[in-house]
Amino acid sequence: MFRLTLLAVFTLPAVFSFVSAVSSQIYTWKNVKIGGGGGFVPNIIFNPSKQGLVYARTDIGGAYIMNSNETWTPLLDFVDNARWNYWGVDALATDPVDIDRLYLATGMYTNSWDPNNGQILISTDQGKTFTPSVLPFKVGGNMPGRGMGERLAVDPNSNNILYFGARSGHGLWKSTNYGTSWTQVTNFPSVGTYVPDPTDTSGYNSDIIGLSWVTFDSTSGSSGNATPRIFVGVANNGTNNIFVSNDAGATWGAVAGQNNTFIPHKGILSAAEKSLYISYSNGAGPYDGTLGSVFKYNITSGAWTDITPVSGSIGVAVDAQQPGTIMVAALNSWWPDGQIFRSTDGGATWTGLWEWEDYPTLNRYYKYDDSLAPWMGPDATITAFTLQIGWMMEGLSIDPFDSNHWLYGTGETILGGHDLLKWDTGASRNITLKSLADGIEETSIQNLISPPVGPHLISAVGDVDGFVHNDLDTPPQVSFSNPAWSTSADVDYAGNVPTTIVRIGTTSDGSAGKQVAISTDSGTTWSQDYGAADDVSGGKVAISANGDTVLWRTSANGVQVSQYTNSFVSVPSLPSDAAIASDKKNNSIFYGASGSEFYLSVDGGNTFVVQGSLGSSTSPFKVVVHPNVTGDVWVSTDMGLFHSTNSGTTFSSISSVSQAWAIALGASKTAGGYPAVFAAANIGGVGYFRSDDAGVNWVQINDATHGFGSASSNCLTADPRIYGRVYIGTNGRGIFYGDASGAAPAPTATAPASSSTSAPTSSSSSSASSPASSSSSSQSSSASPSSSAPSSTPSTVAGVWGQCGGIGWTGPTACASKMTLASNTND
Ligand SMILES: *[C@@H]1O[C@H](CO)[C@@H](O)[C@H](O)[C@H]1NC(C)=O
Ligand SMILES: *[C@@H]1O[C@H](CO)[C@@H](O)[C@H](O)[C@H]1NC(C)=O
Ligand SMILES: *[C@@H]1O[C@H](CO)[C@@H](O)[C@H](O)[C@H]1NC(C)=O
Ligand SMILES: *[C@@H]1O[C@H](CO)[C@@H](O)[C@H](O)[C@H]1NC(C)=O
Ligand SMILES: *[C@@H]1O[C@H](CO)[C@@H](O)[C@H](O)[C@H]1NC(C)=O
Ligand SMILES: *[C@@H]1O[C@H](CO)[C@@H](O)[C@H](O)[C@H]1NC(C)=O
Ligand SMILES: *[C@@H]1O[C@H](CO)[C@@H](O)[C@H](O)[C@H]1NC(C)=O
Repeated sequence: MFRLTLLAVFTLPAVFSFVSAVSSQIYTWKNVKIGGGGGFVPNIIFNPSKQGLVYARTDIGGAYIMNSNETWTPLLDFVDNARWNYWGVDALATDPVDIDRLYLATGMYTNSWDPNNGQILISTDQGKTFTPSVLPFKVGGNMPGRGMGERLAVDPNSNNILYFGARSGHGLWKSTNYGTSWTQVTNFPSVGTYVPDPTDTSGYNSDIIGLSWVTFDSTSGSSGNATPRIFVGVANNGTNNIFVSNDAGATWGAVAGQNNTFIPHKGILSAAEKSLYISYSNGAGPYDGTLGSVFKYNITSGAWTDITPVSGSIGVAVDAQQPGTIMVAALNSWWPDGQIFRSTDGGATWTGLWEWEDYPTLNRYYKYDDSLAPWMGPDATITAFTLQIGWMMEGLSIDPFDSNHWLYGTGETILGGHDLLKWDTGASRNITLKSLADGIEETSIQNLISPPVGPHLISAVGDVDGFVHNDLDTPPQVSFSNPAWSTSADVDYAGNVPTTIVRIGTTSDGSAGKQVAISTDSGTTWSQDYGAADDVSGGKVAISANGDTVLWRTSANGVQVSQYTNSFVSVPSLPSDAAIASDKKNNSIFYGASGSEFYLSVDGGNTFVVQGSLGSSTSPFKVVVHPNVTGDVWVSTDMGLFHSTNSGTTFSSISSVSQAWAIALGASKTAGGYPAVFAAANIGGVGYFRSDDAGVNWVQINDATHGFGSASSNCLTADPRIYGRVYIGTNGRGIFYGDASGAAPAPTATAPASSSTSAPTSSSSSSASSPASSSSSSQSSSASPSSSAPSSTPSTVAGVWGQCGGIGWTGPTACASKMTLASNTND
């Protein structure tokens, strides 16, 4: 039995403090607009009492509120490195009584990939600010079953009362003080037994899914008193999985007559019908689940009716204005398309969003409007996007104030429309299905480049391949094509011919073709590099200064090199976990870094020798090279930031920087000056910094409202044409670009001198490193575009409280040993 009083350990944004050792400069930050979301939206939640108050939650990119003009505003952009797991939102509850109150259950993983416990984030101003209430267990916003729910619910008659259904066997939890403290409901009969895959040693698919939803029967009580009847769904297979209390949670029992063949994903009340609609699946979702059912439970009579339109249905919505009008979405229907059904008679009869006329003729009863995300529509190039209606559809909602307005979440976006009642007009029906995710930028960015000519930004993106961003504020018309991949892992440009670009994909399945592509027109068109073997993928890539040689540190096949698109050959002299870079001027020179060693190749990447030492570093993160000067290289590592002007023979250690992740060089402040240096780094605290004097003085450029989540998962590039401009690619919140808008502080004269590390005496090359195996892959496939398979990564240790694994994760895979909570409240 637990009884815990959980203190709100900090209130935002007051706790954010700038790193004291350096000054800051005001930056204007904006999302680079991709549009259309770009990732899984597990649910969309309408407040039942206030028209137009709508929230969406995501699995890796926080939560959003909808504006009156149908754009979405992110609520969790303050989330910084220490609080990165806030971006996994496993449940959301909007208070039906005090409409300004909002609660988010946050935390990313319940296994070791996330070392932190979860927390309920409490807002009393519709998400403008939050106070966390830390839970004594983990929450899994990016775990299997995240499309179930909602697991968090506010009592509609007594809004001080909340229930939260936990994962991992932690059971049902209750708060009576607006979420401030939580107590386990110890007499709740089931904590759940279902696990998707007991054999998964990563803990990702072998954790207990637990409680899947909590639904108050608002009709059972009266305002001011705790609602007597509460239903709870539990992920049990083959044993009771719907429970009810009729005495405001004092006692609980299984609902009689239930069918427990499948696992309950959703329990949606139709108050007017005094009925509960429950959807079930044989999997936890969002990728699995091939069979399913929909049942209607008549609360008055206790009668259950099987109203399944087709097996496999999952998302359920009721029209509050029209009793008996309900809709369900097929969780995953891969052919010929996703499917949504609608009934106006309580589930007795259904019609589909498409129907076979006479096979193979398909009647699609909608027209598709992708004006807000043109790259994404039916004409889009990525294979999975031939599904117009979507996949991974669990969140399906009809506006409680407007029967024409509906929204649903898919693996990639939010779709919906404003003419839903047209669905009920018979065989000539034809509604408009529109991408309505404007403002949601949920992509996981793998890398970014800003070449000195052509478009200022080109991206390699998880799940949606990547883009040429000709206009940062307008959604691109197209994503990469020919070849199109689900995820592009990396991208680089050739220094002397910067319109020549290389990118690599992550599909290891040989059927997806060669995973290296080259463009000579800044990414507009591409050709496959036929030198690549079919089953090789992922990792990092660098292209030589003249664009003829590609160095590829693959995810599982070591380092390889190819000139003139000849077959890639192995480069055994560079460790298979190395960070790599090309010189931007000399076509023969490539660089690498692994462990504490810096490697140089002067023969086009065919052989590397240890050239210098990176002090006590154990995991170099990134090597960047001066765009105009051969041999002027920067290396970020777990032990700081290193700079060499002699091709890595000797390095200066930038002494103010204790740890650095992504780094970039951009336009210099003064003509002919040294490039501005940007770093995601620890300089007396983790943040984003710029130096205009090659690392002597630094200004912090992020602020209390822009934390960018986990620092080690982000990438940076700086604009070589616009002084001060930097682009930050995040893991779940898309790309930001920042421009200096405030005056830069005067440099302090007392900057510490940098120290030097000498060259090693021997040049023996280490080849002991081998790539860590993928931390997880079974939950992911090429047919599940919202979450790409994790790339192999060096098994380096994450920072304290840092992410140490995850879907699509390319950072450290070993967790730091845990520290006390106090250390987490400090930055
Ligand atoms: C939509 O509304 C938001 C919030 O009021 C505002 O910031 C944004 O500029 C508006 N967008 C358009 C396209 O009008
Ligand atoms: C329970 O549900 C399953 C799946 O929908 C169905 O096949 C079975 O017939 C149902 N059992 C009863 C007793 O209704
Ligand atoms: C549920 O349990 C039944 C009976 O033990 C079993 O056949 C079925 O495979 C289980 N379903 C899942 C999704 O594990
Ligand atoms: C539920 O059952 C009651 C009692 O049999 C009946 O009067 C009512 O119409 C039923 N409700 C629905 C929505 O079928
Ligand atoms: C609905 O309208 C779209 C766009 O005009 C059309 O392509 C589609 O065939 C129509 N559907 C039916 C069933 O007529
Ligand atoms: C490029 O570097 C190699 C190796 O240091 C050197 O031999 C060559 O002369 C350089 N090429 C140019 C054009 O500077
Ligand atoms: C590189 O050289 C070009 C041509 O001289 C110049 O325009 C550019 O500013 C230089 N870039 C940097 C970052 O110094």
